[in-house]
Amino acid sequence: MTQPNSRISKAVVPAAGLGTRFLPATKATPKEMLPVVDKPAIQYVVEEAVAAGLSDVLMITGRNKRPLEDHFDRNYELEEALARKGDARRLGQVQEPSDLATMHYVRQGDPRGLGHAVLCAAPHVGDQPFAVLLGDDLIDPRDPLLSRMIGIREREGGSVVALMEVDPSQIHRYGCAAVASTGEPDVVRVTGLVEKPDPSEAPSNLAVIGRYVLDPAVFAVLRETRPGLGDEIQLTDALAELAGDERTGGPVHGVVFRGRRYDTGDRGAYLRAIVRLACEREDLGPEFRDWLRHYVNEEM
Ligand code: UTP
Repeated sequence: MTQPNSRISKAVVPAAGLGTRFLPATKATPKEMLPVVDKPAIQYVVEEAVAAGLSDVLMITGRNKRPLEDHFDRNYELEEALARKGDARRLGQVQEPSDLATMHYVRQGDPRGLGHAVLCAAPHVGDQPFAVLLGDDLIDPRDPLLSRMIGIREREGGSVVALMEVDPSQIHRYGCAAVASTGEPDVVRVTGLVEKPDPSEAPSNLAVIGRYVLDPAVFAVLRETRPGLGDEIQLTDALAELAGDERTGGPVHGVVFRGRRYDTGDRGAYLRAIVRLACEREDLGPEFRDWLRHYVNEEM
């Protein structure tokens, strides 16, 4: 295990999944590029990493990597056209993603699971703790989570997962944590983890959500982790190993998140995220809310 106070500066964003729940939209476009109001989901995620002080971002991409790379790169043709028109507002919006962070890319090749995607980051990350932000999971910037997790890692060492209470009937959609309490209401010690358990066998209703702060010891464990559920190399299985044996690089703590989270990998949750965020927007919100009220009252 590295020293608890090793500074965390790198973020890893896995975005190489097949996005099968969103086909056919994701046939030629990564699901992380789907717009949430008027920004692709992935931009919110990179903004969150930067807000937590992580400006070195490694994206794990797959066969449709072009749109992801292009989004965080300059687009001189578009910029020139907007400059000629004197449209400074839109010019700023086009330039913003390319100015956000230092972006790096690595290809996963075969999407063999989230654990395998994280292992692809090993050469870039080296022997330092790092953060992982899933590209289809949005955390509202008004409810900071990652900085709290980094603080726990700096104090306790080991790895930190983000947990959220879910309805017990929904736990089969998530990794689930067995936990022991600590003195702090939002921090638990993770004693075990199981991927997508049957509700009757789930150790708790605490679901693992898409933010992690990991000790580099996870790489050695991932190299030995055999494919699990869905024949994929599961990050949850590697973390279960770390949680179960201090010598392999534990402990694992959990930060229990009670803020706003938007899942953009699932169609229903994606639609709810867009409606919520559109309602809150100063520019679009007033007109959209009026329309929504009318729609719900008169047309449903
Ligand atoms: P998901 O399981 O939600 O993504 O993985 P998926 O496989 O693309 O989705 P469906 O179930 O087929 O619709 C969570 C995150 O991990 C990434 C995904 O891109 C997503 O951001 N991931 C998953 C990888 O980068 N590589 C993988 O092999 C699997």
